[in-house]
Amino acid sequence: LEIYLNGLTGVLPPYSVDPAKLQEAARDLLDAGPYWYVAGSAGSGETDRANLAAFARHRIVPRMLRETTERDLTTELFGRTYPAPLALAPIGVQSIVHPHGELATARAAAALGLPAILSTAASHTLEEVAASASGPRWYQLYWPHDDEVTLSLLERARKNGYDTLVVTLDTWTLAWRPNDLDRAYLPFLRGTGLAIPLSDPAFRARLARPVEEDLDAAIMTWAPMFNGRAHTWDQLPLLRENWDGPIVLKGILHPDDARRAADAGMDGIVVSNHGGRQVDGAVAALDALPGVVASVDLPVLFDSGIRTGADIVKALALGARAVLLGRPYIWGLALGGEDGVRHVVRSLLADLDLTLGLAGFSSPADLDPSVLEAP
Ligand code: FNR
Repeated sequence: LEIYLNGLTGVLPPYSVDPAKLQEAARDLLDAGPYWYVAGSAGSGETDRANLAAFARHRIVPRMLRETTERDLTTELFGRTYPAPLALAPIGVQSIVHPHGELATARAAAALGLPAILSTAASHTLEEVAASASGPRWYQLYWPHDDEVTLSLLERARKNGYDTLVVTLDTWTLAWRPNDLDRAYLPFLRGTGLAIPLSDPAFRARLARPVEEDLDAAIMTWAPMFNGRAHTWDQLPLLRENWDGPIVLKGILHPDDARRAADAGMDGIVVSNHGGRQVDGAVAALDALPGVVASVDLPVLFDSGIRTGADIVKALALGARAVLLGRPYIWGLALGGEDGVRHVVRSLLADLDLTLGLAGFSSPADLDPSVLEAP
């Protein structure tokens, strides 16, 4: 209401409320390297485009003359109640677009009571991020091939109040990403510090010389430890035995993998293709969602292509319990730090609230596939 009344009375928001325009503004502001690192995707961009096209293919059939004045977006996830079915997706090295990076993102999310999922590849340590914001804390693990480093990361996360672990499975090595490769392979990343892994004491104990003396060697040690080799299902017990809270596997697209996750005692799944940044030609995440939802009795979260309130309604109608917002909040961060992230998320929540009500529904729980036009 506040956003709308401001608009009606001529008080313009400091940034556009249109996600496409925000991206254009960020493009004007950022250097090409960071801009394309965020905007780019794998291969020819086919899956990135397919993610968005899948949303355009699904359409809501609004219902009339229903009582939807009182709307309630609250959502239960893993035993906790959140104000909306939304979290901020884990996105690494955020200081490449704004010096406050993950600190700003965490503060913006905390002010709205939503989780900002902190990436293993963050540019601020998990201790710094925890100290800067009091909101719900979720930690995303890029799973190292060194159990002591893994256990050290989990212990640090636990000690700092991160209660939900999101294990990303689809990025055990970086995909073929022409936009990055054409730009001398991410030189701007060196300046960000990759604080979480490089600051970890168990990781530092593996280095011949301190990070401060030889950053290149530290990054080279980091690379094979986190990259180049996949883990396998039989290794999941290590995580299950060493994490008391909920564990959510991110990057599941096949119903059989979802069933294996449930069998392995996992608490949830994120259907995601990493925003089309890993397997180019992969199925659109939205098209994979119904099959995964039908195959397990776990909360299924969703990301890859969420841009508008209608997108969230569609993903929830197809069975997602909540969605993760990806690139759009990074454009807000680039433009205005904490304030920019808050602006993007509040605009999206306002759009969701209006779209839900105008479609004839008052809560996420009312949504099911019948809300959408039959394919
Ligand atoms: C990501 N994503 C990601 N995922 C993850 O688990 N750990 C990470 O560190 C990152 N880093 C990252 C950086 C950038 C620049 C982007 C764009 C994405 C993937 C992210 O969590 C999410 O799956 C996608 O962003 C969803 O796609 P859309 O909605 O952004 O298109």
